Amino acid sequence: MTPSDVKATLSFSDNSPSVELPIYKGTMGPDAIDIRSLYSQTGKFTYDPGFMSTASCNSAITYINGDKGELLYRGYSIDELAQNADFLETCYALLKGDLPTKQEKQKFAETIAKHALVHEQMQFFFRGFRRDAHPMAILTASVGALSAFYHDSLNINDPYHRDVSAIRIIAKLPTLVAMAYKYSVGQPFVYPRNDLSYSANFMRMMFSNPCEEYWVSDVLVRALDRILILHADHEQNASTSTVRLAGSSGANPFACIAAGIACLWGPAHGGANEASLNMLKEIGSPDKIPKFIKQVKDKNSNVKLMGFGHRVYKNYDPRAKLMRETCYEVLNELGLYNDPLFKLAMELEKIALEDQYFVSRKLYPNVDFYSGIVQRALGIPTSMFTCIFAMARTVGWIAQWSEMIAEPDQKIGRPRQLFIGYIPRSAKQGNS
Ligand code: CMC
Repeated sequence: MTPSDVKATLSFSDNSPSVELPIYKGTMGPDAIDIRSLYSQTGKFTYDPGFMSTASCNSAITYINGDKGELLYRGYSIDELAQNADFLETCYALLKGDLPTKQEKQKFAETIAKHALVHEQMQFFFRGFRRDAHPMAILTASVGALSAFYHDSLNINDPYHRDVSAIRIIAKLPTLVAMAYKYSVGQPFVYPRNDLSYSANFMRMMFSNPCEEYWVSDVLVRALDRILILHADHEQNASTSTVRLAGSSGANPFACIAAGIACLWGPAHGGANEASLNMLKEIGSPDKIPKFIKQVKDKNSNVKLMGFGHRVYKNYDPRAKLMRETCYEVLNELGLYNDPLFKLAMELEKIALEDQYFVSRKLYPNVDFYSGIVQRALGIPTSMFTCIFAMARTVGWIAQWSEMIAEPDQKIGRPRQLFIGYIPRSAKQGNS
């Protein structure tokens, strides 16, 4: 962090002494006022529920310019990565800082493939779940359970252990996600195959069965790979902040990622693509759009246009553009040119982008508006969408967790509060 020449001065209307606070400059983006000494200097906290203006850490991994609609992983634009890199190259860059050379990529892909199997005992763990359990419930539990199987890489203070855990988590997520799916449909688990790419291997574990050969086109594998690239990291969002907060206490990485998965499940975060597709199904046809938009604008209805809006993007989400392109490619490949949900989505997008309600609030489509349609076309059931998001985001979570643990000044995360409850009172009966 580079200190700025400019300082912030905080003054008070009751004539208490003002305080001077340092400001830091990042390489890009807004400067940050360092308020760490505020409480010791003034006895006051800052109040910022929802972290509207608070940087919780410094990070060199992902940069978002929400006004421009720009997303960079390690300085590489999401457009370039989506066009020129695959998911494992993207993982390498997120974890290590730079895109890999050819040799580095090959070695990394081999290492990931070698760790894709999960401990054979894990299947008994799965059998404890009801068959109709939500796959995110199974995934949260099974990722947390990995710490019970891989004790030998849990010393978080050892960089080698951290690397091994990172590889294990990235490698095993597709296997666990596919197992959660297979369990729900009553089919046998499919073991990973080391000669396939990360995405092709996942699709095979999801959709093959012992009775027939499985074949999937490159266009569809590439579409899944792109979904993974677009969701791989997104700086300090709710689930990543959850992983960092859990990790700040020294908890093991498997437990931290399980916490991140639990947070991701919410409909305002990773559950939005499932909610967005369900919304399109509920609207049903373009003639119902005006009625739906009216409901969305009604504050009392609690209806939101799912797949629209973002805390950081106040412009078109760059991932949504790429996902829309992928949507065309996949539907063309499958001969679904007239897919009614895609047509409905395009119509809804057009109307919303012209409507003053959305324009004035800078509400644009986010990545989830189109990713549900792509996943449905790939044959992925709606209930699995958030699991796919978790599989993609795991690399971001673990890269952010590793960055935090390696930070020399790292402290346990401990927000403060503005207390608005009772002042001291008697606990004797009848005295309340
Ligand atoms: N539909 C209708 N109105 C909306 C929507 C929406 N999707 N999103 C925001 N608004 C309104 C909101 O009611 C508020 O209006 P007003 O100023 O009149 O009170 C205004 O826009 C500002 O919204 P906000 O709630 O302050 O924005 P936020 O930054 O707190 O919330 C959000 C961001 C993503 C939670 C929200 O836009 C939302 O719920 N969107 C739908 C769910 C969704 O698509 N989530 C996926 C996010 S992208 C994937 C990810 O990164 O996890």
